Parts: sequence; structure tokens; C-alpha cells
Amino acid sequence: MTGKMGSLEMGNPEEVPKQGFSTYTMVLVCVAVAAVVGVACILGTYYLHPAYGNTGDNNLIPVTTVEPPQRDRINCIPDVEIDHEHICMQRGCTWQSTDEHGAPFCYFPENYGGYNVVSEQTFGWGLRLRMERAASRPTFFGDEILTLTVDIEMQTENRLHFKIYDPSNSRFEVPVEMPTRSAEKAENPNYDITYTNNPFTLKIIRKSTGEVLWDTSIGALIFEDQFLTISTRLPSKNIYGLGESEHHSFRHDMNWITWGLFSRDQPPSYKGNLYGVHPFYMCVENDANAHGVLLLNSNAQDYTLQPTPALTYHTIGGVLDFYMFLGPNPESVVSQYTEAIGRPMLPPYWSLGYQLCRYGYGNLSNVQEVVESMRRYQIPHDVQYGDIDYMHRQLDFTIHPTNYVGLGDWVDSLKPEGTRYIIILDPAISANETAEYYPTYQRGVDNEVFIEDENGAIQFGKVWPDYPDVTDIDTSLPWEEQVEKYRAYAAFPDFRKQSAQEWWANEVSMFHDKVAFDGIWIDMNEPASFVHGSVDGCPDNKYDNPPFMPEIWGPTIYDKTICMNSVQQVTYDMKDIHYNMHSLYGWSQTEPTLQAAENATGERSLVISRSTFPSSGKHTGHWLGDNASIWPHLYYSIIGMLEFNLFGIPYIGADICGFFDDTTEDLCRRWHQVGAFYPYARNHNGLGYMPQHPAHFGEEFALEVRDVLLIRYRLLPYLYTLFYHAHTKGSTVVRPMLHEFTSDSNTWDIDRQFLWGPALLISPVLEPETTSVKAYFPVARWYDYYTGMELSHDMLAVGGGVTLDAPLDYINLHVRGGCIIPTQTPDNSTMFSRRNEFGLIIALDDEMEASGDLFWDDGDSIGTIMNEQYYMFHYTFSNDMLTADIAHSYGNLMENLFMDHMMIYGLMEEPTRIVVTDYDTVTEISTFTFDQETMALNVNGINHAMDTGFTLKIM
Ligand SMILES: *[C@@H]1O[C@H](CO)[C@@H](O)[C@H](O)[C@H]1NC(C)=O
Ligand SMILES: *[C@@H]1O[C@H](CO)[C@@H](O)[C@H](O)[C@H]1NC(C)=O
Ligand SMILES: *[C@@H]1O[C@H](CO)[C@@H](O)[C@H](O)[C@H]1NC(C)=O
Ligand SMILES: *[C@@H]1O[C@H](CO)[C@@H](O)[C@H](O)[C@H]1NC(C)=O
Repeated sequence: MTGKMGSLEMGNPEEVPKQGFSTYTMVLVCVAVAAVVGVACILGTYYLHPAYGNTGDNNLIPVTTVEPPQRDRINCIPDVEIDHEHICMQRGCTWQSTDEHGAPFCYFPENYGGYNVVSEQTFGWGLRLRMERAASRPTFFGDEILTLTVDIEMQTENRLHFKIYDPSNSRFEVPVEMPTRSAEKAENPNYDITYTNNPFTLKIIRKSTGEVLWDTSIGALIFEDQFLTISTRLPSKNIYGLGESEHHSFRHDMNWITWGLFSRDQPPSYKGNLYGVHPFYMCVENDANAHGVLLLNSNAQDYTLQPTPALTYHTIGGVLDFYMFLGPNPESVVSQYTEAIGRPMLPPYWSLGYQLCRYGYGNLSNVQEVVESMRRYQIPHDVQYGDIDYMHRQLDFTIHPTNYVGLGDWVDSLKPEGTRYIIILDPAISANETAEYYPTYQRGVDNEVFIEDENGAIQFGKVWPDYPDVTDIDTSLPWEEQVEKYRAYAAFPDFRKQSAQEWWANEVSMFHDKVAFDGIWIDMNEPASFVHGSVDGCPDNKYDNPPFMPEIWGPTIYDKTICMNSVQQVTYDMKDIHYNMHSLYGWSQTEPTLQAAENATGERSLVISRSTFPSSGKHTGHWLGDNASIWPHLYYSIIGMLEFNLFGIPYIGADICGFFDDTTEDLCRRWHQVGAFYPYARNHNGLGYMPQHPAHFGEEFALEVRDVLLIRYRLLPYLYTLFYHAHTKGSTVVRPMLHEFTSDSNTWDIDRQFLWGPALLISPVLEPETTSVKAYFPVARWYDYYTGMELSHDMLAVGGGVTLDAPLDYINLHVRGGCIIPTQTPDNSTMFSRRNEFGLIIALDDEMEASGDLFWDDGDSIGTIMNEQYYMFHYTFSNDMLTADIAHSYGNLMENLFMDHMMIYGLMEEPTRIVVTDYDTVTEISTFTFDQETMALNVNGINHAMDTGFTLKIM
């Protein structure tokens, strides 16, 4: 479930970026006017210039003689509206009107400064600078940190870590495990580092091209207790990532847009800060190299993109902790990023199947009917869900005593049929039940698991259940009043506490004895509350009323969540305030939930979390939240999916057919076509909306959905193999076109088409009543998935888009020449499809070659890769011969599994003979057909046991 109607803030009509649009040609603006005060030093190649360490001139307030171009202005009063000239002056900034739409009136003059370097020290790992605040620079919000340290750590050839922090008072740092500092710096880094002393500015340069990737000589460095800002010039306008937000293009709009980041229970809406926080971007430089940057900071923050191109961060706590990844291509950027934060989990095989959910089935017989309808049409179906209505009065770990009688038995009966069950759990625990009826809360109290206020009392908000005795609800009251009057108190487990983890695991395990669920969906973990702060609001303090509010939604920072000054565990022996930990709440719940689920099920399990943070992908997948049944949300789901692949959470999808609102048949059909290619393919519906499960629209629709899901199931061995690569090497699963064809700049803003791995291109229809689609094909051989027919070079030579037919029941799929895709005959669930014959789609490139691989394990054991309990197959095609190599084998995992068929696309002539060789055994295959029109060869009946290698020769 999830969002609640009353405080729904969606569909904020497409708010036009505050100050309008303007267009720019792509020019790299150079720092032509940078009168660099102090000495530039180059790190990496050289070390320090001997003249560093100038302590004089701290009072320097630069005299600006040259006006920066208007598009280079960095806003000096991000906290106030445009007409506050006097504040601008107080801050020592320049006030000047502008004819550049979106540019600020008040901006930092050149060399505004911030901090001056006063000393510097080299270490095995890199360099440490000490800096002091430029003395005469005005304070913005107070509590300035006067002395800062910058550690520049050259961690690897392609990873640079630079952190600006307060050396004398330890400030909050994000407890995500990152690579530890090593004694030695990288020997041969692909970056150079230069900096200036007065003021301190930092440049990071790609050695091979001289491209400046990061350059803080714009704007100002300000480091106050609750206001930290830094700006950098960017080498190009090709910026991707930074979320979680509803973006309307994958490549960022650079026209003066500010986005807030702070975990919030917020249905996707333009500019709204949503559930998760991912301050990570990838930049494609103009010469097609790529790099990535993470700001490891969890405080409420925002960032501004402007056409300079430049990026400005504001955050209200923590430290400025940056990691840069040098790529040099998009896939290696993601790989280096997930190497640092942790690789994505390998999902259980069944979780790649189709999943069905809704809030408000109402009772078990309604659920059974829906499941029955799936069987009736033999629609593939691996997972059925229970949303909060399976619970009694929405209490975690309970079953509704009348509506869901027999749930446990029914779930048991599903398993032999190949259907799994996932339950929802919300973190908030109701406090107003009797201890007899609801011991979960009492056990939590006894074990001190809940988040406390500053006085050590449990912090109470309100979430789901009403007070136990509420029977009549006066729905004419305003929502806020209803919440106050009827809703029970709720406490929030502090999942960083050992006691809370144990308590949670125990509750999960006891509930599993009643309902043998297979995975857990964790919702509302921003954490969401229906009162603001607590049942009593929040005390007046600097955290709940911070002097600077980033551009996040809500009138207060504690809007729809708990008080910022409540107290949480950070590490084993350290506590800190919710102010710092807020956006980490969902992250903190994830690993304990996966461990609890795996403990309870004894198998590899699945956690789906609404709130995520960098490194969450190690333990969870994500859905794109409470979307709506509207066409734009179908399109934005592709953007969200591409972004979460950058964030290291490739197990991602949106609610198929939309969550809020009634769907339509046309939308739901097209959404199933796209959703069949979400890594996480779940149809989920909101309370009270018209049904949208596949059978609802009648037989024809049901069979259309079945057909597109059968394509998905046929390709699952390939999808699973992509997850293996993501898990072991950090590659993306759903892949933006630009990752495979980076040198083709036409791909840089393609976000209506996407790839599965390198091989399969998906070009869906995203508009109503449309039966064609414009698709772009980069230079390669491309084959129609269904027929094997090659797209003609004439067609592709037109450049730009090709218009393809797309009848209502059809999604365009193309296979890229050079790739081999492993397949398996589909079935009604993965339990059965996993027993079927394998096949290969072999799509030849210009050299008449192709390659691919297949990863296979039992699909649901824990640690199969670590324990080497898997098979790895390598397939190569060249010189008219397919070679199947077994690179890794394990026991009798492949028993009774056969390689049965192959489609070979792109041959020049009809073969006369096909011969399979396995050691000394040579078998002639006569069951093949060749289509003269498509030039596709279809070989059947190969019937070769999977557990031995072989060759297949075409003559
Ligand atoms: C389940 O709910 C439906 C209404 O949605 C109702 O018609 C049916 O009788 C209920 N079944 C049971 C067993 O409660
Ligand atoms: C609900 O529980 C809280 C916390 O124990 C308590 O303070 C409050 O009085 C209770 N309210 C009702 C109506 O029982
Ligand atoms: C599973 O949980 C039980 C009870 O909480 C605990 O005793 C046991 O050690 C756990 N097992 C594993 C494998 O974590
Ligand atoms: C699913 O397919 C399998 C194998 O094809 C078949 O044995 C089974 O009966 C089907 N299950 C249902 C519920 O139709």
C-alpha cells in the first residue's frame, strides 16, 4: 500500500522551473577570468609547489573587475526570494539584474573565497590541507567552522576520495561502509589534482584528455554547522542520476533547476523529493568519456544545475564527502561506483517472474479469485502479494481474523503450484493495543527497540491503525483532525540497534510460522508518519527549525515524519539525531529485514524497500513508489529505472498499470508491454480503484498479457545472467542506450527506449491510441526479435529515428548483432520454466560472429556464488560454428536440462548440413528450417545435455 489519500501531494501541475527556460549551444566556458590568487599545485604527477602554505592575505576580499557571464552566476541567497538586495549586500555578494532567465540577481563575485589553505601535509594515501576561513567573509547562518581539513585520497587508478571536514569537532558522517583508507596511494592515477590556496579551489583533471572534471573555482565554499555549500563547473551538460526524483528526461535539464533530496513519503511528482536519496551523478564528457561523482551525505539537501554548466550543492549537515569515479565509460563508472558502495544482490530466480498485488483485495476469496483467473488463462505468475489489508487493523504480524481466515494454509497450497507469497510490513508499530492482543509492541518496549525523543521517551507518531475502539469515523472532518482523533500512537523501531534487529527477526520468524511468505516488502520507511514530528509536534530547536531549508517539500523539515531531534543509534557505540539519520531510515531497515527473512525462510529471499540510499542495492530492490495510472508515468518509469541502475539498484520497476487512479485498458496493455521488461515486474493497484489484474479486461487482453509475459519468461535465463554480472562486476541490467553506444551522441538523451544488457533493445509505445513508434538504432546489425529479419541498412541510414509499426498488442524488440541470448521455453511460473529446454538466439555481427553467456544456479539458495554452486556457460559463434564452453560447473545442477534449439540471425546463405560434436560423438541435426526472406535459421531438436560442452557447425 502506501500513500494515504488525505495528505496526498501529487499531480502538482507541472511546475515550470522557477524562472523559465532558455537555450544554449554547448560551449565549454573556460575560467578565462580566474585571477587565481595563490599558487596552483598539481598532485598526482607532481607534488606540491614549494610556495604553498601562504598564510597571509586571509582578509582578501577580492575586487571583481570582470563580470562573470550571467549563466555562471551562483546564487548567493538560495534561502530567500529574489528581491532581497540588502541580504545580498550583507553577504558580500553582487546584486545585478539579469536577462538570463533563471539566473540569480544575487551572486558570488569572482574569488569570493571561503577558505585559505594554511598548511599541507603529504601522506602515503595522498594529501591533507588545512584551511582557515577567509576572515572578512560574512557569515550566512552562523556557527561557522573556522578551520577545515581537506583529505585528498588517491584510492585507486580510477577512484578519488576527497573530504572536507572539521578537524576539531567530529561531525556526523554517513555510516555506509566505504573502502577504507589504504597506506599507499594509487601509483598511476588517471587523474591529476590541482588546487589554489587563496582561496582554496580544487580541480580534478582527466589525465588522458586534459578534461577538467571538477572545478570549484565558481561560487563559494561555505561550511557552517547547518549550511554547507560548494559549486563546481561541469565539463558538459550530459548529467544523469541524482535522485530519487520524478525526472522528465534521463539527461538532466540544465536550465537553472533545483532539486531537493530528503526521504519523504511522497507520490512521484515533479520536483517533489521522493522516498530515497542518491546524491550520485554520472557525466558524459563531450568527447564521450564518462565519470561519476558521489556526495556521501544524508542530510536534507538540494542541488542546482545551471547552463554554465555547473552544479551547486547545499546540505544542512554532515561533511562534504566526495568520491569520484573516472570510468572512462558509463558502464565502468557504475562498476566502480558499486565496487565502492557494494554490489547489488543476486535476486532469487522466482523474483524475476511476474508479480501481482493490490491494496484492498478485501478478503482472501477475492485474492483466490484473481489467482484463479491467472491460472485460467495460463498467465505466468510467480508472486502474489498481501498488502496491509491482510493484517488485522493494519497491525504488522497479524492476520485479519475474518477476511483472511486460512491465509497460511492457502499460501502453503500455492507453493507446489510454483507461486510465492510476499507480505508487506510497515516499520511503525501501534502502541495502543492491549499487550495480550498485540505483544509485538510490548516486546519492543521491553527490549528498548524504539526511537526516542531527546528526553529518552519513545517518540510517537501516527501511521496506520485507528485506536482499537474506534468504530465510527466522521469522514467529514478534515484529514488532520481525523488523524488526531482516531489514529493510534505508533512507535518507530531503531533498526540500527542490535536489540531492534533481534526483536524484528524474532517477530518475522514467528509470523513466518503462521504464513510461510517468501519475501518482504517494506513500505512507509522514510519514515512516514501522518502527524508532523510527533503526536505533540516538535520542541523548538535548531534541528527542527533549521536556519536554512533546502528545496524540499513541506512547510517544516519534520513534515510527515518524526522530529529531527529524536535520537537514533548510528553505530554500535554511537548515537545521533534523526536530523542526520532521517534519509538513512529505510536503508537501516533493509539489511536486518533481509536477514530476518532469510533466517525465517531458510532460502535466498527478497526485500523490496520504498526508501533507499547508496548501498541499499546490496540487500534490496525498489519500486518507483506510488505512481498514478497516467501515461506520463509510464514514460517516467523508464527514466526512473535507468537511474536506479546507475544507483546500483538494478532490481527496479514501477507499479504496472499505475497505483493511484483507475487505469484504462489501453494504458494497462501498453504498461504490461513495458513492465514485461522491468527487472521487477509487478502489477500493483491502489485502494478502491478499478481492478487491473490481467484477466479483468477479458480473454483477449489476458492472452495478450500472457503472450508478452511469455517473452519475458523465455528470456529469463538472460535476465538472470545480467543480474549475475551486476552482482559480480557491477554492470547495469536495464541499460541506457548511451552505455553501449557512448561515442554516438544521438544516444545521450534517449530515454524512451532501453536495453537489457548489451543485447536486447526495447522500443515501447508510451502514448495512448498510437500504433507506431519512432525508434533510434545506433550503428550495428539489428534483428527483429520475432522474425530474425535484419533491419535494412537503408532504413538505418536515414539517421535519427526509424518509424516502426506497433499494433496495440505488440512491442518492438530487437536483438543486436554480435550477441547470443540464452533462452528457455517459458511456462506459467519459473518453477516450471526452469525445467524446460534451453535455447539460444544467435545474432551475427558484420564479422559473422557473436558471443554470450549463461549463469545458472538453483535459483533460491543463499550464497551460491560464494560457494561456487553454479554453472557458467560461454557461447561463441565464429567461422560458422557455435562453441558451448562450460567455464564453471557444479554437481548435478543441470540434470535433466537440455539445449534444444537455436535461432541464428544474419546468415548469408542457407546451410545444407548441421553437425553437433561432443568429444568424439558427432550428431547430424536434420531438424532445421531456413527462411529465405529473413535469412533466419531455426535449429530444433538439438537435445544436448546441458552439462557437457559441444560445438554446432553449420555447413
Ligand atoms: C469477499 O469480499 C467480497 C466483496 O468484495 C464479498 O462479495 C465476498 O462475500 C467476500 N467473501 C468472503 C468469504 O468474505
Ligand atoms: C496510546 O498510547 C500512548 C503511549 O503509550 C499513550 O500515551 C496514550 O495515552 C494512548 N492513547 C489511548 C487513547 O489509549
Ligand atoms: C534465526 O533466528 C533465530 C531466532 O531469532 C536465531 O536463534 C538464529 O540464530 C537465527 N539463525 C540465523 C541463521 O541467523
Ligand atoms: C503450470 O504448468 C505446469 C507445467 O507446464 C503444469 O504441470 C501445471 O499444471 C500448470 N499449473 C497450473 C496451475 O495451471
